[in-house]
Amino acid sequence: MNGKAVAKASKAEAELQEVLRPGQSIELLKELHILTREGRLNQDSRRKLKQVYHLFQFIEKLLLELPEEGTHASLADHGAGKSYLGFILYDLFFGPRGGGRVYGIETRAELVDKSRALAKRLGFDRMAFLNISAAESADAAELPAQIDVVTALHACDTATDDAIAFGLAKQARFMVLVPCCQAEVAACLRQTKALSLSRTPLAELWRHPLHTREIGSQLTNVLRCLYLEANGYQVTVTELVGWEHSLKNELIIARRTGQRKASAAGRLQELLAQFGLESLLETRFRPG
Ligand SMILES: C[S@@+](CC[C@H](N)C(=O)[O-])C[C@H]1O[C@@H](n2cnc3c(N)ncnc32)[C@H](O)[C@@H]1O
Repeated sequence: MNGKAVAKASKAEAELQEVLRPGQSIELLKELHILTREGRLNQDSRRKLKQVYHLFQFIEKLLLELPEEGTHASLADHGAGKSYLGFILYDLFFGPRGGGRVYGIETRAELVDKSRALAKRLGFDRMAFLNISAAESADAAELPAQIDVVTALHACDTATDDAIAFGLAKQARFMVLVPCCQAEVAACLRQTKALSLSRTPLAELWRHPLHTREIGSQLTNVLRCLYLEANGYQVTVTELVGWEHSLKNELIIARRTGQRKASAAGRLQELLAQFGLESLLETRFRPG
């Protein structure tokens, strides 16, 4: 290498060290395509890493609130995909603490296989990957009766609702949800054309198909928040800042208080009735 090349390489190395966390696995970051094969960071991966850290920080704060600062916490990630969230959490949080478990729940068998192989290669032995749907997860024998944290990041369609049902069944202390597009409520809206509201100007909110989808999505998240509050959770809704690559960046954090809010349950029922969505009371939003 000539002098110029050496200077360039050491500049790249310094840049990399600047963004890496102590003890962080370079191999993992390469596998997740955050670093190039040569271990380099480009503009794109720098942004990606920033986003991952950003979400990690939210979850880390919650884990630290758990007994023994989360050392023995269990976390289940629904619609895990390539499980990069689970892997980063394990690498930066659970691994160094020597305790805790991460479960990835994913319907695509090839992604589950890949995650299992990667976890084995990295020695992340307290990670498990289940090739089941979010809906099946609450009854899966491989999962413990209680789970501390439930995450669902862009879990498709109703998988977020299934993750919520799982969290309720497992008495999760925290749920961290970044919902994806949801079609179920929009389909109901289309079918009923919202009965009592259809004769009011409010019906304009979903007359055009694009708006039906958008308001369906918005309404779904509002219903989810009310449902969580009605079931003993305090809910905050913010934006997942720095998630510019996705339009779906609503971050719902639910914290278990055990105090069921009757007013939220009432509002939930009223909203469902107004929008002609009572059928969802039987399926998604069953009163507790
Ligand atoms: C958009 S990807 C998100 C992956 C990952 N959470 C992320 O943010 O990178 C959604 C993933 O959820 C999986 N999925 C879809 N429906 C599911 C369900 N009902 N149960 C479990 N996984 C599901 C898909 O196969 C896909 O891998």
